[in-house]
Amino acid sequence: MSDLSVPQIFDEVPRHIAIIMDGNGRWAKRQGKSTSVGHKAGVETVRTVLQLVKDNGIKIVTLFAFSSENWQRPSLEVKALMALFSTYLKNEIQQLHQDGVCVRFIGNRQRFNGSLIEQMDYAEQLTSDNTDTTLVIAVDYGGQWDIANAAKQLAEQVKAGTLEPGQIDETLLEQYIALADLPKPDLCIRTAGEQRMSNFLLWQMAYSEFFFTDTLWPDFGEREMQAALASYKQRDRRYGGREEDPDQPLTEVN
Ligand code: IPE
Ligand code: IPE
Ligand code: MG
Repeated sequence: MSDLSVPQIFDEVPRHIAIIMDGNGRWAKRQGKSTSVGHKAGVETVRTVLQLVKDNGIKIVTLFAFSSENWQRPSLEVKALMALFSTYLKNEIQQLHQDGVCVRFIGNRQRFNGSLIEQMDYAEQLTSDNTDTTLVIAVDYGGQWDIANAAKQLAEQVKAGTLEPGQIDETLLEQYIALADLPKPDLCIRTAGEQRMSNFLLWQMAYSEFFFTDTLWPDFGEREMQAALASYKQRDRRYGGREEDPDQPLTEVN
């Protein structure tokens, strides 16, 4: 069994891609349609992208579906997004299971209604032993929430007297951060032109490569995926280090 926690610096194909699926609203507006029509079209793209992920030998995909801040949208839009999420799980979970997809969710799921939480629990339990592809769906997720949540758990251990503050370092904190058991995203794709993280996987993407495309999420397909993967192949991932270069010998500075 391969150790997924070890970074594979020279891999040409990312093991884990993270996607900020943006642009549903603009896609709908361009067609004079309501935002929820855009979100519905966005769900179709999720199907396409899952197939592309498999076809390209990518093992893990994390999709940003709903951020901690998206609750601030109009209540009708939030309602439509919840309904679409629930319908997606209902319609797709058996097929995902048959296709060997392990489905996981990250985020603060306590703010969802009871039946949606049950659907999420069911999806995770049903697919937990699948190993072909891992699909992580980030819902009510915020990178800052994730880090604060990890800090809270360590604080509780300090309070209980089982942990000394001096023992806290990056390696320990990371154990309480979402997806600690998976390799970090190698590549993050954001659609629809914005070049920001919008509070996505702040900790996990410390050394991820980024690919931005102007294409709106409902229009994302094979062409954009190939462009992202081709760009990733060209990247030189140094993780802050440097190989000694015989053509440029190092000298001491006095
Ligand atoms: C992304 O599309 C989907 C979610 C944030 C849920 P948007 O709804 O943000 O689309 P734009 O940015 O308004 O075009
Ligand atoms: C990020 O998109 C969140 C998701 C894709 C779920 P937003 O549309 O919410 O981000 P901002 O507001 O443009 O930063
Ligand atoms: Mg947006």
